[in-house]
Amino acid sequence: MQRKWKVVALLAAALSLVSAYAGAEEDFVGWLLNFQRQKNVKPVSDKQYQDECGECHFAYQPGLLPAKSWEALLNADALRKHFGVDAELDNDTLKVIHDYAVDNAADKSWHKRSRKIAVATEEGPAPLRITELRYISRKHHDIPEKMIKGNKGVKSLSFCDKCHTQAADGVYDMDTVAIPNYPGWDD
Ligand code: HEC
Ligand code: HEC
Repeated sequence: MQRKWKVVALLAAALSLVSAYAGAEEDFVGWLLNFQRQKNVKPVSDKQYQDECGECHFAYQPGLLPAKSWEALLNADALRKHFGVDAELDNDTLKVIHDYAVDNAADKSWHKRSRKIAVATEEGPAPLRITELRYISRKHHDIPEKMIKGNKGVKSLSFCDKCHTQAADGVYDMDTVAIPNYPGWDD
């Protein structure tokens, strides 16, 4: 009788150890996933923003520009002459999109690349292009023009997702880049 209880007690102790370990492991995995995510840029989570701003080019994550840039870009006047095209929105949609972009701008984010953009744009006028940010232009400085403008599969550095295969997830790491028509670009 006594021996049987000892076995039960041992089993119970072992079980609680296993579950404590499993819990710790889950925390570790969560931390790791979160760390990966924080490294990059927060993916777009607003459907209206995704639909309206993903029509002519991929929907840039708000975390790629500071709030002052979104203020300058996302108003009725500016959208009517948006980089040479008319991207006008009705007032209700504009408000949703404006607020979403400003609330998730680089200077409101803890994601690593957004932090860098926020710090680099703290001073000075609001940049209107992501491609003009020094942090971004510096990263692309060495890519020959024939692989961008002269490349039918890309056309402009503004089309991030042509080369960054996980751009829609906010991932811009070097090991996820593939330049269309130039499979051996990094040789
Ligand atoms: C009617 C088409 C159209 C729509 C809709 C549109 N855009 Fe654009 N957008 C453009 C064009 C064209 C460019 C310039 C691309 C180039 O220079 O190659 C551009 C460029 C941009 C750039 C600068 C990219 C760079 O070069 O760094 C940002 C930021 C931008 N758009 C944000 C938005 C947002 C936010 C929305 C949603 C409100 C939006 N766009 C909707 C056509 C559009
Ligand atoms: C013509 C293809 C191409 C386009 C278009 C492009 N990129 Fe890149 N990008 C690259 C390449 C290639 C690299 C890696 C450069 C190197 O080897 O140092 C890179 C590097 C980067 C990096 C640094 C990655 C790291 O791990 O340090 C960021 C961030 C980035 N790009 C963001 C963007 C954004 C945002 C856009 C759109 C506004 C964009 N890129 C458009 C090809 C492209």
